[in-house]
Amino acid sequence: MNSLVTGRRLARELGEWRSSGPAYRALADRIRVLLLDGRLSSGTRLPAERELSGALELSRTTVAAAYSKLRDDGYLASVRGSGSIVILPGRERGEHTGGNGLPLDFTKAITSAYPGLAAAYSDAVEVLPGYLGHDGFDMVGLPDLREAIAQHYRDRGLPTSAGEIMVTTGAQHALNLVTVSLHSAGERVLVEQPTYPHALDTFASVGARMLSFPVSADGGWDLAEAVLQIRRAAPSLAFLMPDFHNPTGMSMTIAEREHLTAAAAREGTVLIADETTALLDINRGEMPPLACFSPGVVTLGSLGKIAWGGLRIGWIRAPRDVLARILRNRAAQDLGTPLLEQLVATALVRELPVLAASRSRELLVRRDALVGLVRRHLPEWDVRVPDGGLSLWINTGTVSTSALALAARAEGLGLVAGPRFGLDGAFERFLRLPFGHEVEQLRDAVEILARISSRVGPDPLRMPQQAVI
Ligand SMILES: Cc1ncc(COP(=O)(O)O)c(C=O)c1O
Repeated sequence: MNSLVTGRRLARELGEWRSSGPAYRALADRIRVLLLDGRLSSGTRLPAERELSGALELSRTTVAAAYSKLRDDGYLASVRGSGSIVILPGRERGEHTGGNGLPLDFTKAITSAYPGLAAAYSDAVEVLPGYLGHDGFDMVGLPDLREAIAQHYRDRGLPTSAGEIMVTTGAQHALNLVTVSLHSAGERVLVEQPTYPHALDTFASVGARMLSFPVSADGGWDLAEAVLQIRRAAPSLAFLMPDFHNPTGMSMTIAEREHLTAAAAREGTVLIADETTALLDINRGEMPPLACFSPGVVTLGSLGKIAWGGLRIGWIRAPRDVLARILRNRAAQDLGTPLLEQLVATALVRELPVLAASRSRELLVRRDALVGLVRRHLPEWDVRVPDGGLSLWINTGTVSTSALALAARAEGLGLVAGPRFGLDGAFERFLRLPFGHEVEQLRDAVEILARISSRVGPDPLRMPQQAVI
């Protein structure tokens, strides 16, 4: 069955969609951006023309013309009995290319594979025969890998035993397992705003009622607001990235960690600390994991950013009783993580300080290159320099980044518009610009941005009143 987006919901997601061109085209373009960056999933049924025209206070002819343009461009199909369904054409899905088909893919904040990875795979293949006598199904993970992960936490000052670790197929899988296990219907979930988009997807998939509190690249976490929300709404879960928050790159101070964990413990809110990006330290220095401050914190980890996303190895660190609950839910999702990858991961986790040091050197050069390029070519954009992570979270001031993403796509540059990182269309003028790419690619991307940003912006709604009419 196709999911449905109501007129009111779509109007919220569309945000400030108007531009200086004809309204039907601006509307079609914005629906296309929502589809391209995942705010609308392929196969979603759009509201009837009459319903959307009511929600947008727009003539039905304009909505009909927008739908007709989307249909002509291959983004909308009429299905008998199901109305109009948005679809992502094969070329946009990047079929046959493995990516999104664009020469410069800045839609993901990722790194290239760790140079020692191929050798780690070869070594793993060598020891593999020793494991083939067992059935290979294991829902908590290889004992050696769990022990190596536990040791990694002990090295960071957090007492941990292998029994508190479950190996997963990446951190996204870990988040999904935690969410289906710890969230019940009707409960609330507190998220940072902006946040990691697929966390929003996960919480939306269980029908969570989401609340948010702000994080910014200049001010960090609005903890007063977070504590207020926890006290008022007693969310069952709160999802946080205390170490190199995606997308802002911020990290919490010790005092902030203490304050937040104390507030959550008082109200019984379980904090999910996503540490997928925690080892991407460029020039901050060691910081104790959030779980050091409260034993109930559920921590997610991954080798995705530090070693390679394609390895698909992540984990959950949680109190044993919580892990037992998660284990009861796992069989419905999968029956374990592939063995060869766990063997590769065991060697890599034992070497994490070496991997982190090598990433840090690489990211320092790339971050500084991107900051310099943006400041030179787009001086009006407000760029803050994060201490770690993989991206800049830029306030463009006036540019509609949904329109920018569409224009960039036409130039072969894939971007994700700011609102994908927030709830209800927030961050239209913000852009996440990943710096994990090689400097040459960073240069090409910024040159494209400099060329198109004057064409796209400034956003007409930010212009003096007469320009809006
Ligand atoms: C904050 C955060 N959590 C989780 C993930 C997903 O990690 P994995 O590739 O291990 O599933 C990402 C990847 O972008 C991320 O940035």
